[in-house]
Amino acid sequence: MFRTFSVLMSAWLCIACTALSPPHRLSTFDVAPPPPHAPVDPHSYANTQAFRTRHLALDLRVDFEQRVLEGTVELHLQRLDPTAQTLVLDTRDLQIRSVEAGDASALAPTAFVLDPRDPILGSALRIAMPAHADRVRIAYATQPQASGLQWLDPEQTTDKRHPFLYTQSQAIHARSWIPLQDTPQIRATYTAHIRTPPQLLAVMSAENALDAVRNGDYHFHMPQPIPSYLIALAVGDLRFKPMGPRTGIYAEPSAVERAAREFEDTEQMLARCEAIFGPYRWGRYDLLILPASFPYGGMENPRLTFVTPTVIAGDKSLVSLVAHELAHSWSGNLVTNATWNDFWLNEGFTNHLTYRIMEEIYGPDRAAQERALGAHELRETLARLDRDGDKTLTPDLAGRDPDDGVTDVPYERGALFLAYLESKFGRPRFDAFLRGWFDRHAFQSVTTAQFLEELTRELLDKSPDTVTPAQIQAWLHDPHMPADTVWPQSDAFATVDAARAAFLAGANERQQLDTAGWSPRQWQYFLDGMPDDLTAAQMKALDRAFGFSRSGNAVIAARWFRLVARHHYTPAYAAMERHLKTIGRMRLIVPVYRELAATPQGIKLAQRIYREARSGYHPIAQNAIEQVLADGAKSGSG
Ligand code: BES
Ligand code: ZN
Repeated sequence: MFRTFSVLMSAWLCIACTALSPPHRLSTFDVAPPPPHAPVDPHSYANTQAFRTRHLALDLRVDFEQRVLEGTVELHLQRLDPTAQTLVLDTRDLQIRSVEAGDASALAPTAFVLDPRDPILGSALRIAMPAHADRVRIAYATQPQASGLQWLDPEQTTDKRHPFLYTQSQAIHARSWIPLQDTPQIRATYTAHIRTPPQLLAVMSAENALDAVRNGDYHFHMPQPIPSYLIALAVGDLRFKPMGPRTGIYAEPSAVERAAREFEDTEQMLARCEAIFGPYRWGRYDLLILPASFPYGGMENPRLTFVTPTVIAGDKSLVSLVAHELAHSWSGNLVTNATWNDFWLNEGFTNHLTYRIMEEIYGPDRAAQERALGAHELRETLARLDRDGDKTLTPDLAGRDPDDGVTDVPYERGALFLAYLESKFGRPRFDAFLRGWFDRHAFQSVTTAQFLEELTRELLDKSPDTVTPAQIQAWLHDPHMPADTVWPQSDAFATVDAARAAFLAGANERQQLDTAGWSPRQWQYFLDGMPDDLTAAQMKALDRAFGFSRSGNAVIAARWFRLVARHHYTPAYAAMERHLKTIGRMRLIVPVYRELAATPQGIKLAQRIYREARSGYHPIAQNAIEQVLADGAKSGSG
């Protein structure tokens, strides 16, 4: 069988795939054929020039005992190359049990090979396709350590009574739980039949029945075509509470009320975003509050954003995260980066929209604080990165894990670039340009080259002498920030700078500093701006006066523990360790590990804490922390 198959393979390799399938009737959400200039995705093995997935039908059983998902996926393909004899899919650590191929009328067993595993990309699955075949069904099972799944014991959940499972597919982890064409250039609708223990509820990035009977047998349908990185599933003891007509909360029972209060402005955010950027095309917008080990702040899974509980601060101070994930309903989910090298088209656009929404809902002062903090983080990140390409909006991530490209650069440099364009062309024109971009490319993937083309056509050419092509090139490709960057300022932060200076000059009692009425973002900025040479006495004064070690705001706590680690402030080590062991959100813990890893004493402690905390972290977070500890050890701390 294998020999016949390799003959098939080489036949496929020799045939140029230029022929296109006959035109077909376009449905409402029809996906355009690949543009002739579709870039090669360096993070996928899929032969998307020959076949494009149009629909996926999942049928999976969730086995908490074995920690596996097991079942079948059926892929409905569009054949672009009538002569293609092989379908290549992405997989990572999947056990492939059998493969059938055929068409809507019948499927029959077919030959397949699973390539050796690449540490970043996983294993290509090569399937022999009979002539005219445009459907495959694959029976498979996941591995317990699948990179896109986190299986939690009851003790690791908020309510500690039931196990929990959730997926995280972005950037290239969908392939660790579904064999598919794992590239953001392919969009598919999906259906899913999910079986779970009867007392648990399954939810997906799809239509969720609000009145689902809790019986362990659930059906989902996603009518809009989405890229693979947005396929998502969570299973746990979940309850639902509506917030507005289109918005609601899924969470473990004890977390629902608090979350619904914290995020009660979501409906309003949705309405404002629509008014500026065009219709919300996804039906409902619900939030799923995950256990604290979730490695991200949020994940924009369509119709159902996944959220860390660490943003529920009790005072809505961290709700810009919801604005951000909601904004992805336009930038990212609707108009999608074609490869992970174009990531700023997802995240920079989304951050720009986030700041716009925050300004609309909470006013310019609050938005200015958010922008200034983002810019501050960008400067820190630029100082830390050593590859020039990673400081630009056009990195080359080929050969690297796309998760490595997730830094402040695409987010904040991207947003500063768009804010710069807005300042040049005026808000009304720039908003209209963005709206046009979303409308023209709805349900498509886009590249930076396309953005440049349209920016030139719609704005630069119509208003010559406003921005030069050289300026645009600098924004995109120069590792240095352009000289005419408009760095955001906030008056609220001028007050903080003054108080910090007073503190550093010796005024270290609470009464001596004018901090009354500060927002949590002002406190964050207060800590972020501390110099590198704080003394133990100053650290002690800070904690005594302001109780940072006991902060109920996880972001402020994370900034404080970073200082604790940097200055070896041992009295707060126990609190820091608790922080590192109860939170899995990488942005809140990796910087603390990074500080610890910078010195020989620190790295010992970091290694011990990590050893003890590891099993509670998501595989993606485990990778990130192991990387930081290895870098620390390499640079002489170990
Ligand atoms: N899509 C991202 C999270 C992500 C990026 C996951 C790349 C995997 C690979 C999400 O929208 C995001 O940006 N989350 C941020 C939130 C923030 C900037 C408000 C996070 O998790 O910190
Ligand atoms: Zn994002």
